Amino acid sequence: MSLQLVAGFVAVSVIWIVIRSFARKGIKHLRGPPSPSFLFGHEAALFLQEDAGSLDFQWMKEYGSTWRTRGAFGTDVLMTVDPKAIQHVFQKSGYNYTKKASQNFMTEIMTGPGIISALGEDHQRHRKIMHPAFSAPQLRAFLPLFQRIADKLSEKWKGELVGSGEIELAVNKMLSRATLDVIGEAAFDYDYNALDDGERSAISKGYDNLFKDIDYNPPKAVILFRAAWDYLPVSMLKWIKYMPTRQFRRLLNLNNLFREYGKRILSEQGPSIDVERKTNSKDMMSLLIKANSSADAKTRLDDEELIAEMYSLTLAGHETTSATLSFVLYELARHPQYQERMRQEIRDARARVIARGGNAFKTEDLDSLTLSTNAIKASGETLRLHPIALGLPRVAVKDDVIPLARPVVSTTGETVTEVPVKAGQVVYASFIGYQRLTEVWGEDADVWNPDRFLHIQTEKQPANVGVFSNLLTFSAGLRACIGWKFSFIEMQAFLGELVETFQFDLPREKIEIQKGVAGVGMVPLVRGKPELGATLPLRISLASQ
Ligand code: HEM
Ligand SMILES: *[C@@H]1O[C@H](CO)[C@@H](O)[C@H](O)[C@H]1NC(C)=O
Ligand SMILES: *[C@@H]1O[C@H](CO)[C@@H](O)[C@H](O)[C@H]1NC(C)=O
Repeated sequence: MSLQLVAGFVAVSVIWIVIRSFARKGIKHLRGPPSPSFLFGHEAALFLQEDAGSLDFQWMKEYGSTWRTRGAFGTDVLMTVDPKAIQHVFQKSGYNYTKKASQNFMTEIMTGPGIISALGEDHQRHRKIMHPAFSAPQLRAFLPLFQRIADKLSEKWKGELVGSGEIELAVNKMLSRATLDVIGEAAFDYDYNALDDGERSAISKGYDNLFKDIDYNPPKAVILFRAAWDYLPVSMLKWIKYMPTRQFRRLLNLNNLFREYGKRILSEQGPSIDVERKTNSKDMMSLLIKANSSADAKTRLDDEELIAEMYSLTLAGHETTSATLSFVLYELARHPQYQERMRQEIRDARARVIARGGNAFKTEDLDSLTLSTNAIKASGETLRLHPIALGLPRVAVKDDVIPLARPVVSTTGETVTEVPVKAGQVVYASFIGYQRLTEVWGEDADVWNPDRFLHIQTEKQPANVGVFSNLLTFSAGLRACIGWKFSFIEMQAFLGELVETFQFDLPREKIEIQKGVAGVGMVPLVRGKPELGATLPLRISLASQ
């Protein structure tokens, strides 16, 4: 990208911010790490940290649950792992804490005007139309699909094991393709052919390594450039995506591909076509079209928005799930006894299914504490320790007071039990930090110990947060992940099949898995080899009978 342009944006931004900050009091009484640079604040340090979460952990130790960091251009950021503060911002304030413009703009480049980038009342409209697609019976109806794709992956690996007895591969890459196939079919009855080497769709290929390529280890100029978006008028922002950088080109290409597919799907499946077929089909898109046609005029979605919904589901729903699954398998490889215990439990459950004359698990089997006690605990514990969403920023829409569960000490030694904030204040909730709090998770919060998972006493927590078991990995409140149950059932189906069939071990060559920072997210990397892209290698063999 042209340096002059960047410099121009930066200059405009800085002047703007300096003018604005005259009127502010802010959060300067809170302690926090000294700023390494006026221009970057801690933004660069956070984006470029070697191991996701390491700065968060260090700061928690030093300053308590809530502290002050610096954003770009000398701004203050309120960073917190405090359950009550996070509950207030994400769960109790409606839309009074909104998304950060710079981050949301990146989403909009990718997805178009869909649910993830919609704000305020407009978001409510999207969410309402989406809601029926995630109802309990609807999710149950997806189970056979999850199982079918899990079987397909399993057959593929079995095939590769014939003769060799053992293979070593980046499980995340295959799982990512499997979960893409799942979301394609679930969302709009579309086959991405992601698991078929020969016929992979262009979209499937377009996703390869996307997050690592876009967001991992960004050049400092890009960090500053993006930070400047928060201060630019929307009219100017609209032009930015046409800048000829590699990243934007990649995102726009994928977005164009998607819109082409989307339009085709809409014309093949849209409201005017084949009403009867639509009434019977169960993919999310059909449900959206149905919900749209019955909703009142104000709450309808137009074609662009519906296409954006498809993209949003694909983006939000596949890599998140596959990366989490990969970390579950990784932890199972590191904990062979637990893996064996889980396998035994799955086999016992399978025996019961066969005894009743069936062959596939039903959701009751996955839900009940028969099949999945261990699988559920392993998934929950992995979501806690390796959250794919490291944390999220929000911006106060109006002046407010944020309460704290754990008081902190101010720069002048006073006890702070609540933090008054001005409109425009950025609050960053560190999910990965919160999920290491010993008072919530126990003294061994830094280790993977699934047996803790079902024993968390939610009623004893300082503040209940999130959608499930006090986890924040799916965020919380009005904008919490709409697909968390979908994802959970999908993970149980995959674990049921894969752990029953295969033994997962660490690679023979000693390598270290690094949790690389990619935007607000995390990607698994092999330490020292970022050029491999998102990679989590494991050794796979057939589990002994
Ligand atoms: C382990 C898997 C998953 C994780 C960790 C995860 C995490 C998250 C998080 C943190 C958010 C909030 C984003 C923000 O506010 O900026 C979110 C939103 C969302 N997720 Fe997920 N997600 C997962 C799986 C899924 C699946 C499977 C689907 C769809 C089938 C999905 C669909 C969505 C959608 C549509 C949103 C936007 C919701 C809104 O803004 O109202 N997610 N997810
Ligand atoms: C958001 O702010 C408005 C205006 O101050 C207030 O009336 C409303 O109660 C707030 N919403 C929530 C959910 O706190
Ligand atoms: C939503 O419904 C309206 C009114 O029936 C219709 O004009 C519009 O095309 C629908 N949108 C989609 C994407 O089906």
